[in-house]
Amino acid sequence: MAIKVTVTSTKGGVGKTTLTANLGGLLSDLGQRVLLIDADVQPTLSSYFPLERRADRGLSALITEARVDGVISRTNLPRLDIIVSDDPEGMLQNWILHTPDGRVRLKHLLAQFYARYDVILIDTQGAVGPLQDAAVLAADLLVSPIPPEILSAREFARGTVQMLDRLRPMAYLGAPLGPLRGLIYRMDRTIDARRIAQELRKEAYGPSKGAITILDVVIPNTVAYREAATARVPVHRWETQRSGPTQSARVAMLTLVHDLFPHLYDTTLVLEDLPLTEESGE
Ligand SMILES: Nc1ncnc2c1ncn2[C@@H]1O[C@H](COP(=O)(O)OP(=O)(O)OP(=O)(O)O)[C@@H](O)[C@H]1O
Ligand SMILES: [Mg+2]
Repeated sequence: MAIKVTVTSTKGGVGKTTLTANLGGLLSDLGQRVLLIDADVQPTLSSYFPLERRADRGLSALITEARVDGVISRTNLPRLDIIVSDDPEGMLQNWILHTPDGRVRLKHLLAQFYARYDVILIDTQGAVGPLQDAAVLAADLLVSPIPPEILSAREFARGTVQMLDRLRPMAYLGAPLGPLRGLIYRMDRTIDARRIAQELRKEAYGPSKGAITILDVVIPNTVAYREAATARVPVHRWETQRSGPTQSARVAMLTLVHDLFPHLYDTTLVLEDLPLTEESGE
């Protein structure tokens, strides 16, 4: 049985795609069989890593035709596959909206992949809509990158809470919401992460209280994440070490994996064994 994780936020440009790609790259290097799903009309995740074999079809074929054959592409990384975004016109949103089982179909179709993968990671677009709903409802666990300015963080929390409250009744249709982990993301050294985390934890979440927790791990704002994206490699391979107070991408991403899946991985054991890229950015 695969664990399904959806990276979501009601805000755009917060780092969802970068986070999804890097989580997928790290989990696959940790030996997990990973399936990425690009549920954004703008196919950024679809081209994040080079593809070794590109399938003819992608997510909209999966959802609209309930078709699981011929939708999986292979990346150039071991154990890392992807269902690409194949909906340049954005027709899928409307289709989901007007189809009786639209928002829950993805969730039920993913069961077809449980035997082949350990982790399924879904990237979403940074705007509320039927496809984002479908991706959220398909997940066991939700992860939201949160920009570390307190005002936008509060605003972000409100938008996310609204989304969860709106989707909660779907539990009666067999699609209960997974818990949400907020991740303080793109943190500058000048910003006090602890204060923001405390403020966020104090926010009144209404019925969502308890379903939302803010992770202790913080992902820093460093050029390594952008450089690795340009080089099309997972960031833990790109920045393996770093001097100064900021954590290397390798340590930050491993800590994140450990905090998200505490029962699955003892990441301290594998720190030394992870592969490096030749053009590593040190
Ligand atoms: N930890 C980081 N440090 C610095 N820059 C980062 C970091 N993570 C991502 N970025 C950069 O931030 C920008 C936005 O990231 P990304 O595209 O992943 O956001 P997104 O939430 O997927 O956006 P959208 O809502 O448009 O899909 C990109 O230029 C990316 O390279
Ligand atoms: Mg994106």
